Amino acid sequence: MQRILPVREMPRAPSGTAGFFLEVLRSPFETGALAPSSARLARRVVQEACLEEAASIVELGAGSGALTESILRARRPSARMIAIERSPRLAAQLEMRCPEAEVICDCATRLEEILERRGYAKVDRIISALPWSNLSASVREQVVHSCADRLAADGRFVTVLCFGLHWMETGRHVRDLLARSFAHVRANALLANFPPEVTYTCSGPR
Ligand SMILES: C[S@@+](CC[C@H](N)C(=O)[O-])C[C@H]1O[C@@H](n2cnc3c(N)ncnc32)[C@H](O)[C@@H]1O
Repeated sequence: MQRILPVREMPRAPSGTAGFFLEVLRSPFETGALAPSSARLARRVVQEACLEEAASIVELGAGSGALTESILRARRPSARMIAIERSPRLAAQLEMRCPEAEVICDCATRLEEILERRGYAKVDRIISALPWSNLSASVREQVVHSCADRLAADGRFVTVLCFGLHWMETGRHVRDLLARSFAHVRANALLANFPPEVTYTCSGPR
């Protein structure tokens, strides 16, 4: 997907939760959630990612910035943060809310080109709250393969799946892709969340 406009020139919309809800009403399937991630889920993701050791961090499907804000707070001040979001309206909100992140309005499947253009061979952390079940099988494959390809040997990839979905066909496909692309995959359920989620922390890209 081509980036349509520089993010700064995109139309402004209500930010935060209100802006996210508007996007859900406009494009429920593409947005893939009824609400932004909770603070509890953001804490879990940040903890799993061990951000204090990372010099470069990429987030896929950053939305209105619910996870991005927590990632920015937890990272080393010198760590570079790139946030990729496909919706131009959410990308514009994200840039307003998280000016310290480099916001790229593009598709996660273009991760490799995005990193190459910025001179990155590898990155230390990749965090994704992409709506896996709403992506086609070939997009899921492309995203997981490029994450494994672009992750540093001692890096971490953390992703989230809705609890319950992880037993269904989509979830089995994602788990299978993760198992084939990373030497170590640790699943951790977060049941005290609405909706309950499972985080997958992957290391040892193959
Ligand atoms: C479940 S929401 C998560 C948003 C945010 N990270 C959060 O935790 O609140 C998924 C986000 O991924 C974005 N998205 C969906 N498909 C994408 C793709 N192929 N490339 C980049 N972003 C995508 C959606 O627009 C949406 O903002």
